[in-house]
Amino acid sequence: MDEQCALKTDLGGVKTPGFVVFEEALEHNLAILQTVMDRTGARILLAMKSFSMFHSFPLLSRTLKGTCASGPHEAMLGRECFPGEVHAFAAGFSEEDIRETAAVCDHLVFNSISQWRRFGKLAQEINPGLEFGLRCNPEHRETEVEIYDPCAAGSRLGIVRAEFTEEALAGISGLHFHTLCQKNSDALERTLAVFEDKFGQFLPQMSWVNFGGGHHITRKDYDVDRLVRLINGFKGRYPHLTVYLEPGEAVALNAGVLVASVLDITSNHGVANAILDTSATCHMPDVLEMPYRPEIIGAGEPGEKAHTYQLGGLSCLAGDILGRYSFDQPLEYGDRLIFLDMAIYSMVKTNTFNGVKLPSIYYARKDGAVELVRQFGYADFKGRLS
Ligand SMILES: Cc1ncc(COP(=O)(O)O)c(C=O)c1O
Repeated sequence: MDEQCALKTDLGGVKTPGFVVFEEALEHNLAILQTVMDRTGARILLAMKSFSMFHSFPLLSRTLKGTCASGPHEAMLGRECFPGEVHAFAAGFSEEDIRETAAVCDHLVFNSISQWRRFGKLAQEINPGLEFGLRCNPEHRETEVEIYDPCAAGSRLGIVRAEFTEEALAGISGLHFHTLCQKNSDALERTLAVFEDKFGQFLPQMSWVNFGGGHHITRKDYDVDRLVRLINGFKGRYPHLTVYLEPGEAVALNAGVLVASVLDITSNHGVANAILDTSATCHMPDVLEMPYRPEIIGAGEPGEKAHTYQLGGLSCLAGDILGRYSFDQPLEYGDRLIFLDMAIYSMVKTNTFNGVKLPSIYYARKDGAVELVRQFGYADFKGRLS
């Protein structure tokens, strides 16, 4: 969707590097998520860790029921800018985190029984209306990339069944699991079966269950009908439970691009390097962390088109490489490249290593207008240091 939007939008006024998020693409995703809610009664939240462009929250909050936060700051942003429920989970909360988070959220999910025992009472005093949940670890692996697999052996995320004790459940109204990453609904089907097998005995005393994120609901090949069947089947077995989903990626999948410019072309024993005014390590760190190869409009695999380049960032990191791509025409100083699917896990992860400039943020409205929402400068770099 972002490719179609980028091709029909005049991005000529975008100062590079710049993120551009498309209203039309967000609406496309929201319409799919709306049908899931309409057909199941499940409540879908935005996982802010993936996409926190609060400029778009008035649009997102017309469909989604609220936000899920990874700690106090996201929870505060959700409460301030996104009408709806605020849920929070972190692998660990300090007392200060609890004071800040409890004050602004509706659901607080603990990662361990010890955190619940340590802070449950304090959180309740701060916010008597707060509902508490525990994160379960079903120990069912669906995610191949180990650093994204919450069920990897020895994982610190969630309580495994062997450590789960019924006595701890007084005051707990919900269970949470998150095991998926970019998965279709078949992975949820298998996970849910294991979750129910291991933790189902506790469900009669709960009022909600949160199926976490990682559901790639808005991806073209995602089997929405199966998701609907799964949720409705689950609700048939536990009619008293409210089901929550908290996807991040699915909300802004293929909804934004990063526009970058070529700064230089250099050569090293037959390798043509194109240096860009962006950076893998500063602007799209998942390219190195996951790792993955971002798509670029008009570019092919190395050797597929006439001119192949190794695209790299402007930072000092030797490995600040985006990958090898080919183009029909030779790249030149000032050429612009459009990286796809950059709304999720890029904008939220940018950093100013090397003092590299942060990309500006633009919002492309459906009427074709491209609005500059935010630009950054020296003060933003200096403001994080002392
Ligand atoms: C607890 C929790 N919920 C939701 C999400 C959102 O996942 P995604 O953006 O893959 O849908 C994550 C991602 O790591 C998570 O850890």
